[in-house]
Amino acid sequence: MPPRTLPSRPRLPLLVTADGDLLDELLRLAAAGGTEVELAADPAAARARWLPAPLVLVGSDQAPACLRARLPRRPGVVLVGRSGEIEPGWEVAELIGAEHVATLPAAEPWLVDRFAECGPDRTGPGPARIVAVLGGRGGAGASVLAGGLAVTAARARLRTLLVDADPLGGGLDLVLGWEQLDGLRWPALTDADGRVDAPALVRALPSRGDLVVLSWDRGDLLPLPAPAMAATVDAARRGRDFVVIDLPRQLDDAAVIALQAAERVFLVVPAELRATAAAARVAAAAAPHCADLSAIVRGPAPGRLKAAEVARALGLPLAGTLRPEPGLCRGLERGEAPAAAGRGPLAALCQRLVAELTGATGQGAA
Ligand SMILES: Nc1ncnc2c1ncn2[C@@H]1O[C@H](COP(=O)(O)OP(=O)(O)OP(=O)(O)O)[C@@H](O)[C@H]1O
Ligand SMILES: [Mg+2]
Repeated sequence: MPPRTLPSRPRLPLLVTADGDLLDELLRLAAAGGTEVELAADPAAARARWLPAPLVLVGSDQAPACLRARLPRRPGVVLVGRSGEIEPGWEVAELIGAEHVATLPAAEPWLVDRFAECGPDRTGPGPARIVAVLGGRGGAGASVLAGGLAVTAARARLRTLLVDADPLGGGLDLVLGWEQLDGLRWPALTDADGRVDAPALVRALPSRGDLVVLSWDRGDLLPLPAPAMAATVDAARRGRDFVVIDLPRQLDDAAVIALQAAERVFLVVPAELRATAAAARVAAAAAPHCADLSAIVRGPAPGRLKAAEVARALGLPLAGTLRPEPGLCRGLERGEAPAAAGRGPLAALCQRLVAELTGATGQGAA
């Protein structure tokens, strides 16, 4: 399969307003700050860009609707309106999680500065490439692929974060053989709803070389709060080069945030009829939130189902295939991280996918 080069998704400030006059003023200020913007007339239209945008301006006309729509809390939200129309701004601002209230015309210079921070020579919140992995059925191989991608990226000297977003997964640190490594796991971070300091996050988590892992532990089953995922993605985007998120098949709000933040989402599907049927349901649930969803088909194929047939049945592009790799299973049982030796079908696939996303081809030590 020819390597693909994906256009990087521009991360433009998002304006949420249906007030034509306010919109005109904000477009003028954005132009003065040298940036283009994305427009949404209401929260429904804003939802898909809400988290990826580096800055969100909510017009005072749409603040109550945003509140009702329960958009996830995120850093960088500004409530904006004209003097006289916005009071009592702080109460609504606090409820929608806005960090600032900008009253026009007084706040014009401040807003131009905020827009300028998002201009073309500032590449948004950070350079990290974010990918997410889903399993088409239970035990499909999604967590192993997520681990393999993260290990491979770190071997290529990319500062990598592997995020375990599956509370029922048993802990992704186990996939790497890292369960003894010190550092925080999710339960210690699930209150995170504001801006997480990226270096502090990285210092607090288990790490080896360029690879850092945010995993569940073996404690009580807890939900993963959406704001904690949003804050983590935001911090990772600013502080890491490569982020891999291992998702549950039953999508919760945190998983949706991850899907929306990811440049590419890989759905791992065993080459079996029933797995393909199950994967179709997972794909249908995930696709509306994904910029780029593709299938990775894993052998063996007991009914000789071909990878291309599986992908076609799912209506997805085929991102890659995985041949059976019995040595990999034995290694996992011994606590060896997937793709750590840089050889074998999984390592080869991960090297290609990481190279497609980043251009990195390094083969450094694990
Ligand atoms: N590339 C592979 N080659 C051989 N065996 C694999 C591969 N990937 C996964 N496996 C086997 O399948 C098992 C399940 O893999 P994994 O935990 O990655 O699946 P999953 O899709 O994340 O499952 P879950 O539904 O629990 O999230 C592994 O323990 C391993 O034995
Ligand atoms: Mg898993």
